[in-house]
Amino acid sequence: MIYIKTAEEIEKVRMASDLVSRTLGEVAKWIKPGITTRKLDTIAREFILDNGGKPACLGYHGFPGTLCIEVNETVVHGFPSGYELREGDIVGTDCVVELNGFNGDSCYTFAVGEIDEKTARLLKVTKESLYKGIAAARGGKRVGDISNAVQTYCERNGYSVVREMCGHGIGKSMHEDPEVPNFGRRGIGPVLKPGMCICIEPMINLGSKNTVIESNGWECRTRDRKPSAHYEHTILITPEEPEILTTFDYIEEVLGIPKGGTPVVKAEE
Ligand code: MF3
Ligand code: CO
Repeated sequence: MIYIKTAEEIEKVRMASDLVSRTLGEVAKWIKPGITTRKLDTIAREFILDNGGKPACLGYHGFPGTLCIEVNETVVHGFPSGYELREGDIVGTDCVVELNGFNGDSCYTFAVGEIDEKTARLLKVTKESLYKGIAAARGGKRVGDISNAVQTYCERNGYSVVREMCGHGIGKSMHEDPEVPNFGRRGIGPVLKPGMCICIEPMINLGSKNTVIESNGWECRTRDRKPSAHYEHTILITPEEPEILTTFDYIEEVLGIPKGGTPVVKAEE
């Protein structure tokens, strides 16, 4: 069932979303060659706890981190570890914060030092596809309109869309209905209604769409071991344009990316 949030509930999702955004802004300060992903995880956990939140992924069905760490070919759900980031890597940090009983969820894929041109373009297009999906998420439209906007933009740019993982509703639980796939037909799926909070999170591959799950049952990587990118925002459906509840501004200020560095692209007609 899809929850329509009250004004008070929306305010709590907004506050959790702000804290997860600030958490990733803190993580951004530490992304450099030589740092372990476990150190990034500790930084995120301490920041969340210091600010009165709860690291919602930690212990979720046994997940061992505050952050899901996505290095290069890891698509989602990578474990923090002793791995030291290297120049040329990309690393996604996916985080959910619970605050006052409600959740906010966001993910950003960082370049570690200089990365190659092909991978840089994958990051750019994946982030743009997130905003394409957001632009399609207007009250009265359907989930399939979001899915199709993301898929069309990524495939037109030569990339493939991961099928096994989806965006989702969010609120008291980190995963609520509806599922928000990153592929599919326009005009299908649940109607988007004002007061719904959803997460849009394209997971986009440089090579083929196929993935495998490692034997620990969690870590998902590309089968061809080519890189995968992942960006995520928590948004609120309104009668018109959605409100983006999470923000990359804290991160991009740290990275020195000017505001509006990622143009908010218009929905496809
Ligand atoms: N943040 C992820 C998402 O976007 C979920 C993390 S799964 C967990 O849905 F098990 F690590 F919590
Ligand atoms: Co999510």
